[in-house]
Amino acid sequence: MTSTFGRRRAALALSICLSLSSAAGAQTAPAKIKVGFMLPYSGTYAALGTAIENGFRLQVQEQGGRFGGREVEYVRVDDESDPSKAVDNVGKLIKRDQVDVIVGTVHSGVAMAMARAAKESGTLLVIPNAGADAITGPMCAPNIFRTSFSNWQPAYTMGTVVGQRGHRKVVTVTWKYAAGDESVKGFAEGLQKSGGEVVKDLTVPFPNAEFQALLTEIAAAKPDAVYAFFAGAGAVKFVKDYAAAGLGKTIPLYGPGFLTDGTLEAQGESAQGMFTTLHYADALGTPRDDAFRLAYAKTWKLQPDVYAVQGYDAAQALAVGFKAVGGDASKRRELIAAMEAARIDSPRGAFVFSKAHNPVQDVYLRRVDGNVNKSQGVAIKALADPARGCRMPAAS
Ligand code: BEZ
Repeated sequence: MTSTFGRRRAALALSICLSLSSAAGAQTAPAKIKVGFMLPYSGTYAALGTAIENGFRLQVQEQGGRFGGREVEYVRVDDESDPSKAVDNVGKLIKRDQVDVIVGTVHSGVAMAMARAAKESGTLLVIPNAGADAITGPMCAPNIFRTSFSNWQPAYTMGTVVGQRGHRKVVTVTWKYAAGDESVKGFAEGLQKSGGEVVKDLTVPFPNAEFQALLTEIAAAKPDAVYAFFAGAGAVKFVKDYAAAGLGKTIPLYGPGFLTDGTLEAQGESAQGMFTTLHYADALGTPRDDAFRLAYAKTWKLQPDVYAVQGYDAAQALAVGFKAVGGDASKRRELIAAMEAARIDSPRGAFVFSKAHNPVQDVYLRRVDGNVNKSQGVAIKALADPARGCRMPAAS
């Protein structure tokens, strides 16, 4: 017969065994890869933030929920497209959540603060939209990649197109912040090269959508054409107001593709026939784009747009990097080298990263037809941002 003491010893031995084996189990379970989304989930760019996250999650799902064999987990911060909150918000992801990689954001002013924080802390940052030229210019860094565009790329292209279409005197109109300023500057550079000039720059504070005073000024200036940078809910309102003021009949409205991307259902008749330039067009008709659009529509019950593509490609780039290191984020140099060498098989068409970590990509001329930004062909092939001021240090 077993004594009480004997039973206790056996129970103790069993409990030690169980706790040792569960500790061993915990040690061998590979750590998850923590992705921190810092995106706008409220305000004028809310739909853009959601599309980016949807695109990213779709690509991770296609990878079986894993990067380099490790499960991917998410934390999210709503940056509200507010630069004054950006330092606090990015600090939450870096210090509190200790993420392996930050994915964000949409607004150039917020992204500048994120890039500064990423440079200081060494945290890997993938930008799935914000085009701030400086981030892949003087601020370029080994741990910062962008899967979208520089503000210069679509704007410069539109400048050349508007000049080629014979417009000579053009008025620009934009929100007054980095993205708008850089978009107008890039446009003016392209326009000048093809024989036109900007005769007036009009601005309104971000995210103000009261455009009547600007429209009155445009009518009075009687330019050959107008170039506008707005996106999201602001783009919907501007294009509708422009048409309602009757300006579209006499003064053609152009812009980078953000003016009509993800917005056409809301813009309706007011956007029909508009020409824009962007590194994506709806329904390109390639097998890669068709597969992406079908998967996105099935998963999210929504049509994708350029923001969804950029989020999807952020995850594609990270998948390449983490695969090269078997999911081990501490092997940074190898991870970065793999991303630098990657050829991203994007729905927009394949692209590579420049030395400054910005996509080298085709920019399409598009025309609005119903609810589609239809490609009219490639306006500039394999366009690289000039990356003025970038001196890329070696990865550490
Ligand atoms: C930007 O702030 O860089 C931006 C925002 C929306 C669309 C395009 C660019």
